[in-house]
Amino acid sequence: MKLSMVADHARWPKENDMIFNLSERAQAAEKAIGKENVINATIGALMDDEGKLITMDSVYSQLKSLPNNQISAYASIAGQDDYKEAVKKVCFQGNDPDGYTRVVASPGGSGAIKLAMWNYTNPGDVILTSDWYWSPYGIIGEEAGRSVANYKLFNKDGNFNTESFKDKFAEIVDKQGNIFTIINSPGHNPTGYSVSDEEWDEILDFAKEVAKDESKKIVFFIDVAYIDFVKDDLESRKFFRKFGDLPENILTIVGFSMSKGFTAYGMRMGAAIGISSNEDIAEEFYYSAMHSCRANWSNCNRGAMSVLSTLVADQAKFAQYEEEKKSYKDMLVRRAESFVEAAKGVDLEILPYRDGFFVSLPCDNPREICEELTKENLYLVPLKMGLRFAVCAVSEEKCRKAPKVIKEAIKKIKSVEGSLG
Ligand SMILES: Cc1ncc(COP(=O)(O)O)c(C=O)c1O
Repeated sequence: MKLSMVADHARWPKENDMIFNLSERAQAAEKAIGKENVINATIGALMDDEGKLITMDSVYSQLKSLPNNQISAYASIAGQDDYKEAVKKVCFQGNDPDGYTRVVASPGGSGAIKLAMWNYTNPGDVILTSDWYWSPYGIIGEEAGRSVANYKLFNKDGNFNTESFKDKFAEIVDKQGNIFTIINSPGHNPTGYSVSDEEWDEILDFAKEVAKDESKKIVFFIDVAYIDFVKDDLESRKFFRKFGDLPENILTIVGFSMSKGFTAYGMRMGAAIGISSNEDIAEEFYYSAMHSCRANWSNCNRGAMSVLSTLVADQAKFAQYEEEKKSYKDMLVRRAESFVEAAKGVDLEILPYRDGFFVSLPCDNPREICEELTKENLYLVPLKMGLRFAVCAVSEEKCRKAPKVIKEAIKKIKSVEGSLG
């Protein structure tokens, strides 16, 4: 047997992150034949039309104006108090759910997922999320001995599949006695779907019904990583109110991230926001999560926390940030609309897009299609059930061009499959 030093639980297949790998290939192609000839739709970050990373001036001028000691010093384990307040303000924007809320800082939204999953599931538990989902949910769970089960995200009309959600939810909660479910909305990665207010009502009515059995423990993890890139900032935050005054055996944890909303991907700053109608449960959330912070990363990026706190405390600075963000959001909306329209024009099937960084296309043989597309200098990400196109990273002009190229590649792979079959 091949020599291995790693502990049993830490032995994983040797595979590079597929997304980063394709992204590197796209960059190599850009170097070889020029950026204008390559469509790189692999990157999950806002890029300008020339393919350069967008960084908000309002954020970075603030960071650079901080005194060194505000960047250098250790932060409190659960985050600075002013940061915790600022998180609530920017996340809820006046739509705070009634009840007890506690905030614990985390390295990005990923850290919030880790905090929540570790502290609210047992070893061997099954976590519920939709069939189209961000793969790190599975990776974070897997490392801790948890696995992921899926419901179908869409019904035949392209809306949230409440029936499938309820079936899976009931199955898991009956078996486990507890359930931890992740819903990534608004601007779901990878599909761009946003759960509507009516759909949230249906989801919560069902959860309340299940919660009548007081032995059941229900945790909603609401991943709002893309909430700052929705068409209407205020409308899309109204749903937060629905998480107020829920039964005591329903806990809500909101996963907040500065990565997208503040173009702060590498600064690694986020938070887990626990919401409960019972103060003891909210306090328990705070202390359990804080213990995990200590056990994993100690404390977070103090400079990044200061950036958010100072932006939120200063109306003029915040207005400047909002204006800047709006200009990028408008750019994103134009790109996404161009892609959706062009897809319609060539009869390319896509999943219902509402908001956010990505559009997805359902198809068979996603890996083969991706490879085929690299021959046309178009790079996107293969998923289990289709392809993900990052409208956040591609110019409007290229967003308009891409659907036809993708349609052709799908046709080609289908005909090869057909002749083989
Ligand atoms: C669905 C989803 N959740 C959470 C995150 C959190 O990212 P980060 O840890 O960079 O804040 C991301 C980033 O890509 C994401 O796509």
